[in-house]
Amino acid sequence: MKMAIAFKDVDLNFNLTINQTKLHRVSYKRLFYRTFDKKRFVYSFSFLAIFLFMFQILIDGNSCSNVSTCLSGNCSFEDTHKYPYGIPIGNGSRLPIPGTNQRLPEVLIIGVRKGGTRALLEMLNLHPDIQKVPMEVHFFDRTDRHALGLEWYRHQMPFTFEGQLTVEKSPSYFITPEAPKRVYKMNSSAKLLLIVRDPVVRLLSDFAQIEATRSEWKKKPRSFEDVALLSNGSVNFQYKAIQVSMYANYFRHWLEYFPLSQIHLVDGDRLIWDPWSEVRKTEKFLKLQPKIRQDQFYFNSTKGFYCLRTAEASKCLADTKGRKHPVVSDETISKLRKHFASNNRQFYVIAGRNFSWPES
Ligand SMILES: *[C@@H]1O[C@H](CO)[C@@H](O)[C@H](O)[C@H]1NC(C)=O
Ligand SMILES: *[C@@H]1O[C@H](CO)[C@@H](O)[C@H](O)[C@H]1NC(C)=O
Ligand SMILES: *[C@@H]1O[C@H](CO)[C@@H](O)[C@H](O)[C@H]1NC(C)=O
Ligand SMILES: *[C@@H]1O[C@H](CO)[C@@H](O)[C@H](O)[C@H]1NC(C)=O
Ligand SMILES: *[C@@H]1O[C@H](CO)[C@@H](O)[C@H](O)[C@H]1NC(C)=O
Ligand SMILES: *[C@@H]1O[C@H](CO)[C@@H](O)[C@H](O)[C@H]1NC(C)=O
Repeated sequence: MKMAIAFKDVDLNFNLTINQTKLHRVSYKRLFYRTFDKKRFVYSFSFLAIFLFMFQILIDGNSCSNVSTCLSGNCSFEDTHKYPYGIPIGNGSRLPIPGTNQRLPEVLIIGVRKGGTRALLEMLNLHPDIQKVPMEVHFFDRTDRHALGLEWYRHQMPFTFEGQLTVEKSPSYFITPEAPKRVYKMNSSAKLLLIVRDPVVRLLSDFAQIEATRSEWKKKPRSFEDVALLSNGSVNFQYKAIQVSMYANYFRHWLEYFPLSQIHLVDGDRLIWDPWSEVRKTEKFLKLQPKIRQDQFYFNSTKGFYCLRTAEASKCLADTKGRKHPVVSDETISKLRKHFASNNRQFYVIAGRNFSWPES
């Protein structure tokens, strides 16, 4: 049985005092809630209930042997994907898979917001030697969280075997001036993944998300031009989403602490139409055996996006809300492209790679 689950980046505003089991449960609740829009929620929920019921039967059918051999010390790396925070033992507690530990991440997806960070994380998680952190922890960008210390951070991590790489992603790390130094202090050998897209496309996608959030808060809708342009028609470079697309300004901070050889750039535009080749390059950068297969990606023509095949389900990477980018005039697009052009070129120089984003 197949079911498509679309992921939306969720910033979990979790309660710091609750334990990990609860925290994890909260994250999934939020995930599902955000995944379905309200009208379709009821239908989706019934579908989900049926799915979970059948899934439960499937699991229960052979869980005794699986879980017990697993608990007696015969778990595979893949089992850690199923039970990132341990195996539920029925009384509300979870037992970590024997031989696993919570470890600080060796790999961070640092951004960029709306670049495809969730898609990249889900794709990499197809690899048995990778263990994703399901939620965004925001440890290096929020001073209050950072103040909780590395032990707190480690306790947010999923359980892994030695040799598995823990990957955490929080897209706002990229634009946070303090983040590079903080990451460096945790582990100066950490590997960083940065996924970037054409800055104008990223901007439109960011605008669409910002407006969707505003609409949840019952705020008045705004047109793209209202926020991106000043009344005299110039680009409003104070608009946050425009600033975030000025990649060179932020990338510089990272290069003060990390050599380029420790940072891998993923082309977020290419990840949409040719995900497997971008993932393969990332596997290579992480010095992993090439284990993610091309047939684990399939194109969903209704959606216009690639979906992933995992053992239990398929996951589609576009937003279920099918959030449309705003309709923006060619003139405005061209104005924005010209605005970003010089910053883009600076980025190509410091990143040592020419993305050839349109300049007019
Ligand atoms: C552990 O798993 C392997 C491979 O699945 C199997 O051959 C072996 O018999 C298992 N050992 C135990 C003690 O269950
Ligand atoms: C659940 O059971 C385990 C082992 O049987 C025990 O250590 C744990 O304290 C129990 N948890 C609760 C919440 O009762
Ligand atoms: C730091 O990162 C490197 C490279 O990913 C890893 O091999 C090493 O174990 C990490 N060190 C610590 C203390 O986590
Ligand atoms: C529009 O106004 C801004 C500030 O008010 C100014 O910096 C900019 O030069 C103006 N643009 C044009 C085309 O006059
Ligand atoms: C493809 O996308 C459509 C539209 O979002 C969805 O209804 C359908 O279930 C997807 N099919 C597969 C096989 O993922
Ligand atoms: C990047 O490549 C394009 C051709 O794809 C070229 O026209 C442009 O000059 C290059 N830019 C830089 C900064 O090297």
